[in-house]
Amino acid sequence: MTTSDLIKKIFLSFHEKDNDAFYNAAREYIEYEKRKKHTIVARELEKALYISNSSSGSNKRFKNALPIPRDTEKGFPLLEIQHFDISMDSLLICQETKHQLEQALREFKDADVLATYNLQNKKKILLCGRPGTGKTFSARIVSSVLQIPLVYVRFDSIISSYLGETASNLRKVFDFIENGTWIVLFDEFDIIGKNRDDSHEHGEIKRVVNNFLQMLDNIKGDSLILAATNHQYMLDPAIWRRFDDVIYYELPDEHIRKALFDLYMRPIKKDPGIDLPKAVHLTQGFSPADIKMITEEAMKLSILDSRPCLSQNDIETAIYKFSRREKVRNNQMGDR
Ligand SMILES: Nc1ncnc2c1ncn2[C@@H]1O[C@H](COP(=O)(O)OP(=O)(O)OP(=O)(O)O)[C@@H](O)[C@H]1O
Ligand SMILES: [Mg+2]
Repeated sequence: MTTSDLIKKIFLSFHEKDNDAFYNAAREYIEYEKRKKHTIVARELEKALYISNSSSGSNKRFKNALPIPRDTEKGFPLLEIQHFDISMDSLLICQETKHQLEQALREFKDADVLATYNLQNKKKILLCGRPGTGKTFSARIVSSVLQIPLVYVRFDSIISSYLGETASNLRKVFDFIENGTWIVLFDEFDIIGKNRDDSHEHGEIKRVVNNFLQMLDNIKGDSLILAATNHQYMLDPAIWRRFDDVIYYELPDEHIRKALFDLYMRPIKKDPGIDLPKAVHLTQGFSPADIKMITEEAMKLSILDSRPCLSQNDIETAIYKFSRREKVRNNQMGDR
């Protein structure tokens, strides 16, 4: 089929309001551009096709061309398409980690340059580290920077209670992903860790994970796959091997904690007497998400008291409240 035939098909399907025909013809045209090694053009067209599919506004005509896969038994969606606009500057992590992330972005952007040397960009990346250190946040930033929608998959939600369904759920998710170019996040990959004490469950989960790994091995297309976990020490070597890179998120050191306080307290006027080094000292071992929560709490205290600026007392009260909450969580309140 010639280019003009393909374009004619796209026009005709539009005229006939035939979503499936439109979608198939558009896909065919993208594949045609890919065969001609016009990777950038193909990627741009894919982006345009999927944005028009998922945005709620202007293009309702083709909104349902690409249905979101659902669990057969319960009917819940197996993934979510999300759009973000967050800059890389909002992520405060150590230089090394940031560099690793930026390197993956550069490789993705210049995948065709690498391809001419027979090299492949990193396509499967494991994000690991303590809760609240920025793993999910990073996936949103990657999606924003590359301007490609995020396909968000809660790993544990596809683990169906009907075990037979799990493999088919996974298959549906992978089929969807392979149909386009996405940033994909398999979040809460921790299910492997959570079930380790229950040997029966664990056997089943292991099977599911193996299934997932096989699909990951054979995945087609140009999507960037991210998987996030905070139980990295429980992943066996078979899993590590599958990923082209592993990015580890550490708890913030004092410089980064200070930068986090500065960033998250930016919306409010501050008392000149604030002892930031003390707040930084008091929050040793806290995650960025903890510090965000503390600053929000402190700002609320000051706003609700109608005080003109945030005080040291607001910050310390918020830190105290947070520490108390953690004690409850860790069962350290002295209850029997
Ligand atoms: N490194 C960071 N720099 C700036 N803000 C951060 C950072 N890490 C986390 N945050 C803030 O905390 C929120 C929660 O973090 P996020 O959801 O990314 O944590 P996570 O590492 O995915 O944790 P979990 O393992 O519990 O899923 C983010 O939306 C962001 O506002
Ligand atoms: Mg997360």
